[in-house]
Amino acid sequence: MDLTIERLGPARIHSPLNLSTQLGDQVCNFVPDDEKILYDVSLSACRTCRREGAETLPLAFERAGPREKIYFDPSKVRAAVVTCGGLCPGINNVVRALVMELTYHYGVRHIYGFRFGYAGMVPDFGYDVLDLTPELVRDIHHDGGSLLGSSRGPQDPEVMVDTLDRMGIGILFTIGGDGTHRGAMAIHEEISRRGLKIAVVGIPKTIDNDILLVEKTFGFETAFSIAIEAIRAAHVEASGTPNGVGLVQLMGRHSGYIAANAALAEPDVNCVLVPEVPFVIDGERGLVAWLRRRLEKRGHAVIVVAEGAGQEFLGGNHSTDASGNVDLADIGLYLKQRLTSELKAAGVSHSLKYIDPSYIIRSAPANPNDSLFCATLAQNAVHAAMTGRTGMLVGIWHNIFTHVPIAAAVSGRKLIDPEGELWRSVLEITGQPAAWQ
Ligand code: F6P
Repeated sequence: MDLTIERLGPARIHSPLNLSTQLGDQVCNFVPDDEKILYDVSLSACRTCRREGAETLPLAFERAGPREKIYFDPSKVRAAVVTCGGLCPGINNVVRALVMELTYHYGVRHIYGFRFGYAGMVPDFGYDVLDLTPELVRDIHHDGGSLLGSSRGPQDPEVMVDTLDRMGIGILFTIGGDGTHRGAMAIHEEISRRGLKIAVVGIPKTIDNDILLVEKTFGFETAFSIAIEAIRAAHVEASGTPNGVGLVQLMGRHSGYIAANAALAEPDVNCVLVPEVPFVIDGERGLVAWLRRRLEKRGHAVIVVAEGAGQEFLGGNHSTDASGNVDLADIGLYLKQRLTSELKAAGVSHSLKYIDPSYIIRSAPANPNDSLFCATLAQNAVHAAMTGRTGMLVGIWHNIFTHVPIAAAVSGRKLIDPEGELWRSVLEITGQPAAWQ
């Protein structure tokens, strides 16, 4: 894996930030340009490296943060921001923090906002461009959604780079998930092909938390925190009636992080179903038999299902949305019907309550922890862009902010490891079977 970050050219301008290069002088420091954060902090990784010889350095990310020398002249550079894909708590916090950091700390005078995702960079759509000023963005963090609006779907990179070139943009910040970063990658490649000096720096946004090489995406925590309301309600309903079953469906297309984390945060859940861990419905080891045993023993049950789980039970739907994501069939409704009819057929009188909070979990404003995460991500994105780093996004690894090449981040998808700590924790909290077959 190559974690090298590309640069537009040598950084020769003194940063306008009043920071220090001396430890111990009680003034915040610039980050040394070559500071790295290890990918694997385990001792065994260290040993492997040592065995491989003194020349071998362990895999490491660049550490994010302000550098002493920058590439862009703040008084001349123009920056632009685009927000793409599904909405997510914290987008406005990121936009606000980008504008504040660029304006007040670096002295950048021109910041533009493209409307409605990549479509806003394509003249045919005719969307206006916003002048992002501190006055305009001052209060936007109080609202969910995106001040700029968003949209799904790729646009022609040549057309988008024409727009950047025509507008004299030097830095493009792309806020989005995997589709957005694939788009950013295409823009970056087109910029490189033309030999233009435009930095492309991404900020990873998605409630699904499924960006590779990024420990946590913004919006995810707010989303699963709101999801626990649905779990609480399901538990209250399930335990308030004989053989009550609470069934909650939560977003999570390919990765079940929202379902897993919500269940850990609100441990009334007895079973979590995620796309990464296949389950069976029928047979002695299936979901129905498990539910019957659970009701016999405890008289109630709460099940949380991620929307991407169990798609194999629902036939092949191969239509896709504008981002190229397969349109999911409704596993929540399917399980509601299936479990109800199976329990009925087995003569188990019960009451199943189905809750799907759907978009409620992602249209809210960011919670405090997400808000501070958004602010720091944005500050680090500005620091990186001002040094001329490009083709990268800001990540977090071992709780330290990092630079991640977009190419590496879009080379796969982050999934729950069924053999990893998170899933083990879920199994311990719920007491559900470790394997369904
Ligand atoms: O990617 C984030 C997400 O919220 C998924 O969890 C969900 O499947 C999807 O977006 C729905 O998005 P939309 O309906 O806006 O296309």
